[in-house]
Amino acid sequence: MGTSRQPDLSIKPSERLIQYGVAWVVEQGEGMSIASRAKRITTNTLQEMKANKEKIAMLTAYDYSLARLVDSSGIDVILVGDSASNVMAGHETTVPITLDQMIYHAQSVVRAVQRALVVVDMPFGTYQSDSNNALKSAIRIMKETGGHAVKLEGGREVLPAVRKIIDAGIPVMGHLGLTPQSIYKFGTYSVRAKQDEEAARLMEDAMDLQEAGCFSIVFEKIPAKLAAEVSSSLTIPTIGIGAGVDCDGQVLVLHDMLGITQEFSPRFLRRYADLENTIDAAITGYISDVRAKSFPSDDESY
Ligand code: KIV
Repeated sequence: MGTSRQPDLSIKPSERLIQYGVAWVVEQGEGMSIASRAKRITTNTLQEMKANKEKIAMLTAYDYSLARLVDSSGIDVILVGDSASNVMAGHETTVPITLDQMIYHAQSVVRAVQRALVVVDMPFGTYQSDSNNALKSAIRIMKETGGHAVKLEGGREVLPAVRKIIDAGIPVMGHLGLTPQSIYKFGTYSVRAKQDEEAARLMEDAMDLQEAGCFSIVFEKIPAKLAAEVSSSLTIPTIGIGAGVDCDGQVLVLHDMLGITQEFSPRFLRRYADLENTIDAAITGYISDVRAKSFPSDDESY
C-alpha cells in the first residue's frame, strides 16, 4: 500500500481506490492533505480544502467507463455537465439537452463513482421559468440519479430557484461569467466581465449566491484578476475554467483535455493527451489486421 500523499501510480487505477479506504487513512494519519484523507468527498471536504488552501480538481464525465477512470485517478469532483449536449450528442450548444438525457448520463456516472462528489448540471429550461419547476427538476435529479448536488447557471435572476432548491436540502453549485445556456442572448463565447460594470455585477451575484447557500461557484471565462478578487472575498470555494490560477479549483471538459475533441481549442484549454490520434492508430491498425486476415490469430480463436 502506498505511503505518499499522492495516489500510488504503480497500482492499477481500478485498484487504487483501496488506497482511500480506512486502513490507509489510519496508516497515513496527520500531515496528509484533506483530499487524500477523505474517504468520500463531500461539500464539507471542499469547504475544508478552501480553508486549507488546497486546490480542488474537477472534471466532467458523462458515462460509466470514463467516470470510473476519472474517479479512480483521485479527482475531487465529477461534473455531469450539460456539455454532454456538445460532446456526447454532437449539438452545437448546450441548449437542446433534456432533463431525461441528463438523468441518463448522471445515472451512468453515479454507478461508477466511489469517491468523488458528483454534481449534475440542470439543463436549460428546467429551472428558469419558476422556482417550483426548478425544485421539481432538482428533486428528479437527486432521486433518479443518486448524484450529490446540482449546478445551475446565472446570478440574481435565478436566486429564488437557488433558495428553493437549497431549502429542500439539495446542495447547489452556481455558475457565473460565460453561461453557455444563454449563448443566444450574448451571441458569442468571448471573455465576460471585462468592463467594470459587468465585473461589479458578477461580484454582487457571487455574494448573493453565497448568501443564498450555494456551496461553490464555477467562474467561466472571466479575467484572472477579477476571479482572484471574487475568490478571496467569498468564503465558499470557486472553481475556474478560463478564470486564472487563483480560483480555489479548476475544471475542464474531459474530452477536451484528453484530446478526443480537437476542433475546440480555446486559450484556457491544456491538453493532457492526444487520444484522437491514439484512437485513430488503434482503429486503423484493427481495420488493416482484419483485411490482412492477421486478426484473429490461432491464439485468439477457439
Ligand atoms: O457543462 C459543463 O461542462 C460545464 C463546465 C464547462 C463548467 O458547465
